[in-house]
Amino acid sequence: MTVGRSRKTTARQQPPGTGNRARALAVVVLAAGEGKRMRSQTAKVLHEVAGKPMIRHVLDTVERLRPERVVVVVGHQAEAVRDAVGDRAACALQERQLGTGDAVRTARTRLRGFRGDVLVVCGDVPLLTAASCRRLLRLHRKASALATVLSMQVEDPSGYGRILRAEDGGVRIVEDADADADERSVDEVNTGTYCFDASFLWRALSSLGRDNAQREYYLTDVVELASARGRAGVVLLDDDCEGWGVNSRLDLARVEAAAQERLILAAMERGVTFLDPTTAYLSSDARIGADTVIGPNVRIEGRTVIGRNCRLDGTSHIVDSRIGDRVHIRWGVVAQNARIGEGAIVGPYSHLRPLADLGREVHVGNFVEVKKSKIGDRSKANHLAYVGDATVGRDVNIGAGTITCNYDGFAKHPTEIGDRVQIGSDTQLVAPVRLGHDCYVAAGSTVVRDVEAGALVYNDKPQKVRRGWVAAFRKRAARKT
Ligand code: UD1
Ligand code: CA
Repeated sequence: MTVGRSRKTTARQQPPGTGNRARALAVVVLAAGEGKRMRSQTAKVLHEVAGKPMIRHVLDTVERLRPERVVVVVGHQAEAVRDAVGDRAACALQERQLGTGDAVRTARTRLRGFRGDVLVVCGDVPLLTAASCRRLLRLHRKASALATVLSMQVEDPSGYGRILRAEDGGVRIVEDADADADERSVDEVNTGTYCFDASFLWRALSSLGRDNAQREYYLTDVVELASARGRAGVVLLDDDCEGWGVNSRLDLARVEAAAQERLILAAMERGVTFLDPTTAYLSSDARIGADTVIGPNVRIEGRTVIGRNCRLDGTSHIVDSRIGDRVHIRWGVVAQNARIGEGAIVGPYSHLRPLADLGREVHVGNFVEVKKSKIGDRSKANHLAYVGDATVGRDVNIGAGTITCNYDGFAKHPTEIGDRVQIGSDTQLVAPVRLGHDCYVAAGSTVVRDVEAGALVYNDKPQKVRRGWVAAFRKRAARKT
């Protein structure tokens, strides 16, 4: 499938050199390489940055440019990469990884009849922004260039292709493996992002050789061919981290750190306070409202949404959860796929498992675990409880040590608790069981049958006392030693 495919392509075609901004755009994402230096079973572009596979970052970015077509070149672990791409782009299979030039040539099968500009990006450059791609495209079109490369200046250029600018304005790119000592000292490098005129690109690719250190078809050689015609350009990135490629685990860690810095800065700009930004972690899909304060060691993952004026004290792990406004998450909370209503207080040390759904101003406290349960507004379970497969009404108090016994070794059973129910400490609710509104459950009860509204339920466990028993016991024990 193609993205944003238009049947009107022909009408919008413009010859190169007219400087027309309405030229059609296609994007080719290179993602067939093995990524040997990662030493991984997982294809490189599927490694995650800010909780999202690198290839998805790149697709998100290029889709913002509204291209007519997007083609992803897959090869190594093609099926897994295809799955990650889904129906967002067409995939072209590069059977053997003969280099970046060969990879783009493979994409041509999916771009038959396309005329206009082709933006080529690498699947392993996840921090690239749409704004930089737009600038590249704008300058490429303005100069009526056949090839324009996006470059960056880096402290350590090793591994990257170096941009060599000649005095006559010519440019070429020399790969690290092919460069001599002088060339290696150049610190302006190729980000692997380019704009090409489509018909020039196909012609140039068919003339590429592989007379180089890696015996590969280098896409970079196309730039030199355009330069020979006086129509190659270079656009330098302002912020070099955008162009960082991931080839190793070290690169991955650096890119992740840069991604975190970017996400946390963006959250700050939207009004979020971080008490220790160096230890916070945000996924790229997480959203946090203004005036929320995030303490140290807080990981916010997946599609979590946190409201305004919340406080997360610290050391929490929040995944795919929705948290309302004015919620206080105290120290040490783990929440996954949970909902927490406005004004609720959770923790310290609470575990909200999938489908925990807390109403407004609910309190869930120390060592309380909630799973697949709805807890009504203002209800409380403050100490040492397990609430699973339960529906709890409003204004309920669940005493310390209350357990819903929901599992009989075969199936899970539901517990229903009405509004205003008071459950004494150390109670077992053996499911399936229902407590009507306003019930009182005495401390230490084992409730096995439904209880009608307004009733008191207790087990008859008589209290027995032996007067003077301790002194007699101690005497006997002392004699034995
Ligand atoms: C490439 C550039 C280099 C640039 C760097 C930026 C070339 C020859 N070199 O080098 O100038 O500085 O990127 O990160 O282009 N790929 C395929 N099929 C292949 C080979 C590679 O799809 O046959 C894909 C890879 O999956 C990757 C991208 O192309 O996403 C770049 O390949 P990689 O091997 O990482 O190239 P570099 O050596 O980094
Ligand atoms: Ca690379």
